[in-house]
Amino acid sequence: MSKHDERNQVLGHEDEADGIQEYDNPLPDWWLGLLWGTAIFAAGYLVHYHFIAHRSPQKALAAELAAASERWPSESPGTTQLMLTEDAAAAGEQVYRTNCVPCHGAELMGGIGPNLVDDEWLHGGMPEEIHATIVNGVPAKGMLAWGPILTADQINHVTAYVVEQNAKALGRPYPPGGDDEPDDEHEEQEGGSR
Ligand code: HEC
Repeated sequence: MSKHDERNQVLGHEDEADGIQEYDNPLPDWWLGLLWGTAIFAAGYLVHYHFIAHRSPQKALAAELAAASERWPSESPGTTQLMLTEDAAAAGEQVYRTNCVPCHGAELMGGIGPNLVDDEWLHGGMPEEIHATIVNGVPAKGMLAWGPILTADQINHVTAYVVEQNAKALGRPYPPGGDDEPDDEHEEQEGGSR
């Protein structure tokens, strides 16, 4: 039992420490086992992580971003284009009924928000201006910014619906420019020099 005797060796400065005796024992085996166990595990894990499984935080991030862009595709310019067609207006009616009626009224005659079927516009009555008002809102006046709430398509559709209803109420053609409206900007290039 000499091993036992090696332990419990008092260092011998008890008088310096209020009678508490300090021993000079080797660390317990279970403690050393934990120490070396974790060290060996860490080495093995490192090799596995980087060289066997080829994992890395960069790859994890890239995979997450890829999954996100698949789930929330960034809108291509094609889908964000404002199309003033019968179909777009018909689709927009649903968007309008769901989101806009409480403030602008079922007949778009206004209420909390202004009338949208008269000839007076606070923020411009061109389709692009109406679109911009819907996207950006007028937060100070209680008109929400719908850009972050609705999809680009929904905003285009509801814009088309507002434009259509406004045109109908004022006896103007819809789609605009369909019946050669004089002040419509035609940007067709008719074989011009370029
Ligand atoms: C919470 C109430 C509320 C809701 C909901 C709301 N609006 Fe408005 N909207 C307003 C108010 C108030 C204004 C007037 C802002 C101002 O005074 O500048 C306004 C202004 C507008 C304008 C500009 C009118 C002009 O004269 O220039 C348009 C277009 C419009 N809203 C469309 C919509 C559409 C489309 C929706 C649904 C997607 C919608 N609004 C939902 C309150 C609302």
